[in-house]
Amino acid sequence: MRLAGLHTSSLQRHSELTPLAEQTLRRCHVIAAFSETSGSITRTFLSDPMRDCHLAISGWMKELGMLVTVDAVGNLRGLHGSGDRPRLLIGSHLDTVPCAGAYDGVLGVCVALAVVAALKDQALPFDIEVLGFSEEEGVRFRAPFLGSLALVGRFDSKLLDLRDANGCTVQEAIRRFGLDPTRIPDACVDQRAFAFLEFHIEQGPLLDRAGESIAAVSAIAGQSRLEVLFQGRANHAGTTPMDLRQDALTGAAEWIVNVEQHAQSIEGLVATIGTLQVSPGAGNVIPGEIRASLDVRHACDETRISAVRNICRAAEQIALRRGLEFSFEERISQNAVLMNQHLVNLIEQAMRRIGEVPRRMVSGAGHDAMIMAEKIPSAMVFVRSIAGISHHPDESVRSEDVEKAIGVGVAMLTDLAAELRRAQ
Ligand code: HGY
Ligand code: MN
Ligand code: MN
Repeated sequence: MRLAGLHTSSLQRHSELTPLAEQTLRRCHVIAAFSETSGSITRTFLSDPMRDCHLAISGWMKELGMLVTVDAVGNLRGLHGSGDRPRLLIGSHLDTVPCAGAYDGVLGVCVALAVVAALKDQALPFDIEVLGFSEEEGVRFRAPFLGSLALVGRFDSKLLDLRDANGCTVQEAIRRFGLDPTRIPDACVDQRAFAFLEFHIEQGPLLDRAGESIAAVSAIAGQSRLEVLFQGRANHAGTTPMDLRQDALTGAAEWIVNVEQHAQSIEGLVATIGTLQVSPGAGNVIPGEIRASLDVRHACDETRISAVRNICRAAEQIALRRGLEFSFEERISQNAVLMNQHLVNLIEQAMRRIGEVPRRMVSGAGHDAMIMAEKIPSAMVFVRSIAGISHHPDESVRSEDVEKAIGVGVAMLTDLAAELRRAQ
């Protein structure tokens, strides 16, 4: 990679970034082995494999001379620098969806370490804090962004009472990990933090289709996540006539098809029911209760919010007609966010300097950057997903694209350093 127009005294040459890109991919594969399931990658909030993940990444951080801590919500934090200067945050999440790929989240943490490694001999006018967020996907407690919400001081204490599938609360999970939930407010970043940068696999097909490696993210689409409950009456599958049933599953099934049709009818709307729990869950018992997740997204917040309203109204009508009860709990309603324009410009400038055509795109997936952006200027760099596959074991990235992402990080931080020096 050619870092055009940069001063050789403050830059890494191309040949120095290639091994860092290769190391980054190797590290993603090391972390992929820390899983709750054998033969696939599943690593949820504060699970046992997350300890191993922390151990491995802490080791890499310490090799770079970083001061490593874990905050009270389980975010792994590595500080490079004296700690009293302006602070640039770079990171992504360490948890995964069930049966995940090796790059969603982890790639961003490993690229951040590569950028620090590439710049470690430079005298920067700011500290760098690398963040491995403990929870972004919302898998274990069906509430996403637990890690980044704590960093922006938005972690609602009600979240501590959520329970996972085994009845363990967030609070208990935190204590079992050896952390103190009463210290969560201390995780909040202070006024030293001047920017947040997240590198992430694109998780979609746009860059691959365009034959491009990387892009700046201009905005992130909003999302709503709900838990819904259909309640009917469990009864004997052999003796209960069809017209006397209150089958919660058939009601939910009708609603699920209705949700799909609703999403198909509105341009850009996506709606997903990704989990379904059938109770009591036996082949010879009519389902009495269904718990399901609902995920609704759109770039326009009003369209998303009105879609959620319509989808819930449809569920109520279906439930009424079938003698069921419907209720829901909204776990998050996160508005779409714009990335910081100045940081996006700097990313594009950095792309030009490594010989890439600047490109920006909107993210359909949610990211910690959308939470961080509420408190500090934030931006993202996307790395091409091969064939646009993500949330799947086949998720993959090219080493040369990762090298470009590292190159953009190095060039951008060099520009940020120059800006800060001018301002001081
Ligand atoms: O669900 C999402 O959009 C992200 O991958 N966490
Ligand atoms: Mn994800
Ligand atoms: Mn992710």
